[in-house]
Amino acid sequence: MTVDLVVVGSGFFGLTVAERAARELGLKVVVIDRRSHIGGNAYSAPEPETGIEVHQYGAHLFHTSNEPVWEYVNRFTKFTNYEHRVFTNFGGEVFPLPINLGTINQFFRAAYSPDEARALIKGQASEFATGESRNLEEKAISLIGRPLYEAFIRDYTAKQWQTSPTALPAEVISRLPVRYNYDNRYFNDTHEGLPVDGYTAWIERMADHPNIEVRLDTDFFDESQEYNKKSVVGRVPVVYTGPVDRYFDYQGGELTWRTLDFEQEVLNVGDYQGTPVMNYADSSVPYTRIHEFRHFHPERAEYPKDKTVIMREFSRAATRADEPYYPINTPEDRQSLQSYRALQAGEPDVFFGGRLGTYQYLDMHMAIGSALSMFENKLKPLLRGRTE
Ligand code: FAD
Ligand code: NA
Repeated sequence: MTVDLVVVGSGFFGLTVAERAARELGLKVVVIDRRSHIGGNAYSAPEPETGIEVHQYGAHLFHTSNEPVWEYVNRFTKFTNYEHRVFTNFGGEVFPLPINLGTINQFFRAAYSPDEARALIKGQASEFATGESRNLEEKAISLIGRPLYEAFIRDYTAKQWQTSPTALPAEVISRLPVRYNYDNRYFNDTHEGLPVDGYTAWIERMADHPNIEVRLDTDFFDESQEYNKKSVVGRVPVVYTGPVDRYFDYQGGELTWRTLDFEQEVLNVGDYQGTPVMNYADSSVPYTRIHEFRHFHPERAEYPKDKTVIMREFSRAATRADEPYYPINTPEDRQSLQSYRALQAGEPDVFFGGRLGTYQYLDMHMAIGSALSMFENKLKPLLRGRTE
């Protein structure tokens, strides 16, 4: 075998490691992915009828306050000045999110000042003490009061989890930010934007190096393909970004995830909802939100004026056959994760990373940031030694 490093998974974590190993150390890297495209969940493609870029695994917004990550990603793409904002449809009215003074004044049909609104919500939140809440509902009420909870959190959360908030643990939410001003910008990071020519162009530039070979439709556990677990581990260092429980044949238990189902439609209107993301807070609507992809790139003059692409999003617990999206992180999950960490200690040549490999929700900038530090702190010392 002439390859120096095998990377399992071509998402942002895997590609960042592969790019650094190839470019900085001149190593030969094979990246395998079981999907038929690169990029992991950040992959996007133009919808064929309209040319509108669709994020196939749900809307992806790039934002970061991490300067080394911002410098790194700008080697591969320029970013637009897109700023994310979200609205919610509740009871036949549209309100701004995250909950802010505009939301509060519209909801209570009032004109409260910041201090008046703060005093009102503090009073409504006194129904429960935060530290004593027995479930998600009590916790949420203790943070923002019953009226706002019942309108904007209760049924939306029930749809996300397919479970009543009274049956969900309080720890599912740590905080529920309320802004006592009219700022409805979704992210607070220093840098925000979308890749000018799309996610896939960015991702392809990361993989575009003569020392990087990408093999798609290739599963690490399929022993009929060249770079599989059995043939590789112990011979070549491996960076593994697939599910950690799968790697160990689920011997420490199956980690639980939420998944999403998407329903995509091309409509013969130029603009369906006037904004990229509309949440649906009512229980009578089965989906949690609708994405309208043209609004992520208002600068693209080539998009058709008489057609649009929308995607309804539904949320539920994942089975083993589904795409794992968000860790549920029950006490049993945390116990399983402990046992997988112990098993990993017996695999000194395998480096577990990324969203699936660490059972952690990671934004793109976090996946890239942790890949850069794994490369610097663990892989570089090891790989440099082997090639000298
Ligand atoms: P992934 O992108 O999941 O890549 C892992 C890859 O490993 C996949 O391509 C998979 O096919 C492959 N793989 C798994 N098992 C095997 C195997 N056995 N053999 C071969 N290959 C295998 N981040 C943001 O910053 N902003 C957002 O708005 C945002 N929205 C998101 C919305 C959703 C619904 C989800 C799920 C994530 C979102 N993210 C967002 C997070 C972003 O997608 C992650 O940062 C990114 O996925 C992490 O990259 P990764 O490489 O760790 O994992
Ligand atoms: Na998202």
